[in-house]
Amino acid sequence: MIIGVPKEVKDHETRVGITPAGAKALTEAGHQVLVEHNAGQLSSFPDDDYQTVGAEIVGHATDLWRASEMIVKVKEPVEKEYHNFRDGLVLFTYLHLAPLNELTDILLKKGVTGIAYETVKDRTNTLPLLTPMSEVAGRLSVQVGAAYLEKEHGGRGVLLGGVPGVPPGNVCIIGGGIVGTNAAKMALGLGAKVTLVDLNLNRLRDLDDIFNGRVFTLASNSYNLERAAREADLLIGGVLIPGAAAPKLITKQMVSRMKKGAVIVDVAIDQGGCIETAKPTTHSNPSYEVDGVVHYCVTNMPAAVPNTSTLALTNATFPYVLKLANLGAEAALKSDPGFAEGLNTYKGKLTYKAVADNQSREFTSASSLLS
Ligand SMILES: NC(=O)c1ccc[n+]([C@@H]2O[C@H](COP(=O)([O-])OP(=O)(O)OC[C@H]3O[C@@H](n4cnc5c(N)ncnc54)[C@H](O)[C@@H]3O)[C@@H](O)[C@H]2O)c1
Repeated sequence: MIIGVPKEVKDHETRVGITPAGAKALTEAGHQVLVEHNAGQLSSFPDDDYQTVGAEIVGHATDLWRASEMIVKVKEPVEKEYHNFRDGLVLFTYLHLAPLNELTDILLKKGVTGIAYETVKDRTNTLPLLTPMSEVAGRLSVQVGAAYLEKEHGGRGVLLGGVPGVPPGNVCIIGGGIVGTNAAKMALGLGAKVTLVDLNLNRLRDLDDIFNGRVFTLASNSYNLERAAREADLLIGGVLIPGAAAPKLITKQMVSRMKKGAVIVDVAIDQGGCIETAKPTTHSNPSYEVDGVVHYCVTNMPAAVPNTSTLALTNATFPYVLKLANLGAEAALKSDPGFAEGLNTYKGKLTYKAVADNQSREFTSASSLLS
């Protein structure tokens, strides 16, 4: 198969869909890999690294899309890429189609086989191509929060680990899922006092075991949250209610009672945020202040560390890329029902129920088209 890896064009996107390691494995399996000039540059993978493993560098995106049977990307295509769509082209990337009516329309009209990272499921019914980015964002949230706590960045000048004779900083993490667990690991590593808040008591029991009692666990209710927020130097939001907007667990009033110079990192901002005063920010202007509390609410945190993020993402996506290349899309999807859940558009039909419901469009099951 001829596989194309375009340079991402979405604002501030720094990752790339296939690494030189992936390109090597694909060429060794007999496939041809085309990489757009500088596609890996921002993730610290120069063209030379691809060329040495047998990939071909292509100067223009249009030529690359035209020559490829499958395109492997990171973010959903933006308007200037739409003209590259054509019947039967396989597109494997994050699509997040629910709010994107125009993109859905054109994928359907052009007959693109659109397979979305975010809806692929594994055998345990989890979302294996979302997990790595939550791991990155969770770990990064503490690193970023620690930096904003420095006086120079508007924080209250607290060193999370403290020093002998001075107590450590308080980190409160709301949501003990993938983001929360990874944030807790980092905060503990720095020597902070860590409190993990979750609604799910069984999850809190697991976390108590995982961290061997080194984190304080707290049941989620507004009384506990108010007290925890008041004590926090760094407050991290990592809740998720699948398929729904994040609940506003920390109200404006609770924020006003936090310590001056405390820091909020609302990782759940991509689902609207779980802190009432949080609003989406970008890497070029990542923070702002409300009531003396620094807010960092970047919706695509992993783009800050593209080398790590690309490696983490492609570790998870690559086995699927290889399967698509080796078997062809139809056989690859048929061989794995969880992978088939990734199929969103196929032969002009919308094959993902939640997107169809969201956009009031007709839904056709992937299994009826694949059989
Ligand atoms: N900003 C970014 O760049 C970025 C990157 C990756 C993930 N995220 C987002 O981070 C969020 C968390 O992702 P995740 O993978 O950790 O999800 P997850 O499903 O693994 O964990 C969510 C946790 O929230 C808990 N929860 C739900 N309601 C709660 C409540 N009322 N109080 C306390 N806890 C509650 C759940 O029990 C669960 O343990 C998601 O919104 C995800 O999209 C953002």
